[in-house]
Amino acid sequence: PPTKFQTKHLKEIGKRQHDEKISVVGVGQVGIACSAFILQRRLTNHLVFMDIRKDWIKAEALDFLHASSTTGSQKITATVDGKEMAGSKYVVITTGLRPTKDQSRLDVAQKTTDMIVKIMPPLLEYCPNATFIVVSNPADVITWLIQKLGKLPKHRCLSTGCHLDSLRFRYFISKRLGVAPSAVEGYIIGEHGNSSVPVWSSVMVGGIALLRIMPDIGTESDKEKWSKVHEQVVKGASTVSSIKTYTNWAIGMTVSDVISALKDNSGRILSVATDVQGFMGIEDSVVLSLPCILTSDGIAQVVELPLTDFEKDMLKKSVDTLIKAQCSIKF
Ligand code: 2OP
Repeated sequence: PPTKFQTKHLKEIGKRQHDEKISVVGVGQVGIACSAFILQRRLTNHLVFMDIRKDWIKAEALDFLHASSTTGSQKITATVDGKEMAGSKYVVITTGLRPTKDQSRLDVAQKTTDMIVKIMPPLLEYCPNATFIVVSNPADVITWLIQKLGKLPKHRCLSTGCHLDSLRFRYFISKRLGVAPSAVEGYIIGEHGNSSVPVWSSVMVGGIALLRIMPDIGTESDKEKWSKVHEQVVKGASTVSSIKTYTNWAIGMTVSDVISALKDNSGRILSVATDVQGFMGIEDSVVLSLPCILTSDGIAQVVELPLTDFEKDMLKKSVDTLIKAQCSIKF
């Protein structure tokens, strides 16, 4: 039977362990953006880069160290074989292929799988007890792959998943309403990709549940066409990457926000991805995003949102899409 997560009692909320090593695997545009925000938010005093380009990551480390008196992180080291990562508390994995203009994230699943299969052995050898945070796309499928390769517990092998989509969702709603993004609550769940699910029934703005004032919000009968906001979310990455060929700042801030929530043993509820078999009536082993309670080791619990029928149908489509993608990769 699917294992339910152990709901961990929150230890001291907000107690941040500053001396926990964080490693970033894959130091390209995404990896370096994650690193910048991890350092700027003082999430570690020892950051490790792992990448095949030894001189490049040494130079990146030095470039950060020159200003380390502003971040309190005097130790930034570089490794090619992973040894330096030993004992990491959090390992961020960004290695993978970037979808081109006319590709979806799922289109690069096999090529990224082949790269991940190669890099996982040293990560598992040197960081067997780390909490893995997967960014490599397609993030849901790659998280499922890593859980399988490492036989890792579901609560500490997760992806930032739809936390980024939820941030975009809140941003576009705030733009449409003329309020601050922080005034908007609401979740996107499912695939970090084209089949993501906007949970309009979860959206609150300034304490007002939008569903109460617009019962058909986001559906075909919604005359105000709020579904266009979700279209903006789905196109969020491609709108940016069609011009600069990649996204890195939003995902970098998303990764540092998730690690901050973990490190603070915060109990924050973020839409991150893990294997959700047994939740929301999902019977298969599939990785996708649902709102999760985050504590220092990882996911303490999954929150099962009461969805409308329209939202349930969309989630079912996302589940089917991801199961098909999981079955398609060879490793
Ligand atoms: C993003 O959504 C590319 O998955 C990355 O920005």
